[in-house]
Order: sequence, then structure tokens, then C-alpha cells
Amino acid sequence: MTKTFPADHIAIGDCIQSMNAWPEGAIDLIFADPPYNIGYKYDQYEDRRDDHDYVQWTCTWIDACARLLKPTGSFYILIGDEYAAETRLHLKQLERDHKLVLRNWIIWHYTFGQNCKVKFNRSHAHLFYCVGEESFSRPLNLKAGDLPFTFNRQAVSVPSARQTTYGDLRANPTGKLPDDVWYLRPQEVEADGQVGFFGPDEDTWYLKRLCGTFKERQGWHPCQLPEALLERIIKVSSNEGDTVFDPFVGSGTTLAVAARLKRHWLGCELSDEYACLATKRIKHCAKTGTTLESDLEDKGIKRGKPRKKAEPKRSTREQVQRNPSLF
Ligand SMILES: C[S@@+](CC[C@H](N)C(=O)[O-])C[C@H]1O[C@@H](n2cnc3c(N)ncnc32)[C@H](O)[C@@H]1O
Repeated sequence: MTKTFPADHIAIGDCIQSMNAWPEGAIDLIFADPPYNIGYKYDQYEDRRDDHDYVQWTCTWIDACARLLKPTGSFYILIGDEYAAETRLHLKQLERDHKLVLRNWIIWHYTFGQNCKVKFNRSHAHLFYCVGEESFSRPLNLKAGDLPFTFNRQAVSVPSARQTTYGDLRANPTGKLPDDVWYLRPQEVEADGQVGFFGPDEDTWYLKRLCGTFKERQGWHPCQLPEALLERIIKVSSNEGDTVFDPFVGSGTTLAVAARLKRHWLGCELSDEYACLATKRIKHCAKTGTTLESDLEDKGIKRGKPRKKAEPKRSTREQVQRNPSLF
């Protein structure tokens, strides 16, 4: 078992094994976007576990993350509806055990989700924001600016309605913190399919799931997150030179943004192919300080007039069999 702590590296293999081999209390910020157990097709991972097994596994990797986190660190977990309740319950247990404190239950409202046929389209995921155990021994002292965790308010502040709409002289000139629902539909804010966020006069985030045509989309991973989502988290909950860890690297979004923002990066990924491609992406971001964009042609995507019918006509039974989650 190695007890040294690798820097700027992706460990290939099971994250729980890797995490348990590393020294505890060493990471400033953890962001986890696990497989959601909804049958996504990954290179190495089978995303259809028995329900009980999935919940047990979730608790185990969360515990391993909590062990790795510095007492002053921050830990974010992104999860879908299916297991949000179970995840929250486990976080409650960790709070009782004085290991983590939940600061916010954030809803990320995204667009470009799947269109359902006979129920409302899902357009959100749950983001649990927790901080480490220092919060139990050192209370918040806002006046003295003494916080038991990193929270760079100015890095994520947005203009308030008092400033932009009401011209209210009592408005805090440094703006306000964003709400805990992060949303907006792209059709209202963007013209050319680019990710837009933090408009100068807005207090909401313009975040969407990455649609296939976005330049940022790498095209080789089934569930790449938008960099903007990670940018807010990394800016508010870490500083330059800190270490950001992602136990489920995937296409490398968390670590790419961390590298771009001059943080050290560390991750785990089961698939050596994903790990290799993600490393290239991260190194590009570290070297250039910019997002790695990919050409539309590379992904076989063409722009133009939408087709009238996206899918050949199928019977409802056939459609249910193909994708039960749409019904
Ligand atoms: C939801 S994806 C992460 C996507 C990532 N946030 C992004 O923006 O690209 C989950 C990833 O976890 C990986 N994975 C699944 N089980 C794992 C395990 N036990 N240890 C490490 N990685 C694992 C899968 O191969 C998959 O790439």
C-alpha cells in the first residue's frame, strides 16, 4: 500500500481502493459525479447494479472521500433523483458522526435533457455541498472573516436585483451570492450554441448539459459535464495551489478546469482509455489556460435545419423496451 500522495495524476482503477491507500485529510476540494445506476453505457463500468448494492457502494465511496478530505476542505456530490434521498440520509449520518456538514442542497437545472413522451421532462440534478470536520470545532466568525473552510465569496458573487433593477442605494456594491438553484434555458440566452454563464447583469447561472454540438464537448464520453458548473465550484471552494480531487474522472472536466485555474489535480478512473484521453485534455488546459475545444466534424455532428422526425416511428411497446426511463 502506498501512503505517498500523487500530484497531477489520474489513478487507473477502482477509486475506493486508490483512496484507501492514500493518506487521510490531504485534499482541499472533492467533486464527485458517480455513475447514476441508470444504465448508461461506459467503457468499463456496468451501470446497472442491484439497488441495495448501489446504495452500499455509494456509502462506501462517500466515506472514503470524507476520510481523504482536509478538515477545512469542501466536498460536492452530484447525483440524480433515483438516489438523492439515500445519499442525503448517508450525509446526515456523517454529520451525526462529526465528519461532514451539509452547507447547501443545490439544484442544478439543466436543459438538453431527454424528452419524455408522457411525463414531464427531467431537467435537474442534485448537488450536495458539504464541508469538513473543522466546522464542528471552529464556529463561523463572519465578522473576523474566520471560516473553517474556503469560501471565496467575491469569486462567484453576482449583481443583485437591488443593483440592476431597483437602483437601491442600500445595495451591497460587491453584489450577492448566487441562489441555490442554478439554472436557465439556453434558448433565452444564447445565439450560437456556446456555453454562456455569468452575464454581467444576471444573478443566475446559464448552465446546460453539454449538447453534442458544443465545441467544449469532447465526444468520446457519454456524460461530460459543462466546465462552467465546475468553474463556479472550484473558484468558490479552493485557491490556487490547492489540490482538487475527482473519484470519477470520466472525460476529465473537473480536473481540466482545476488545471486551468492553477490548482493541482488528482483523480481516479476505471477505464484506462478515458483516463488517457482525459489526461491529454487536462494537460492542454494546464499548459494553455484555455478549454480544449473539439471540431464538430470530429464528432460526426452537422448543423442545419432540424429533421422533422428525429426517430423512425416505433410502437409504444418497442419504445418502452428501448428506453424505459423515458416513460
Ligand atoms: C458520470 S461519469 C463522470 C463524468 C465526468 N464528471 C465528466 O464530466 O466527464 C462516471 C465515471 O466514473 C467511472 N467509474 C465508474 N466506477 C468507477 C470506480 N469504481 N472507480 C473509478 N471510476 C469509476 C466511469 O468509467 C465513468 O467514466
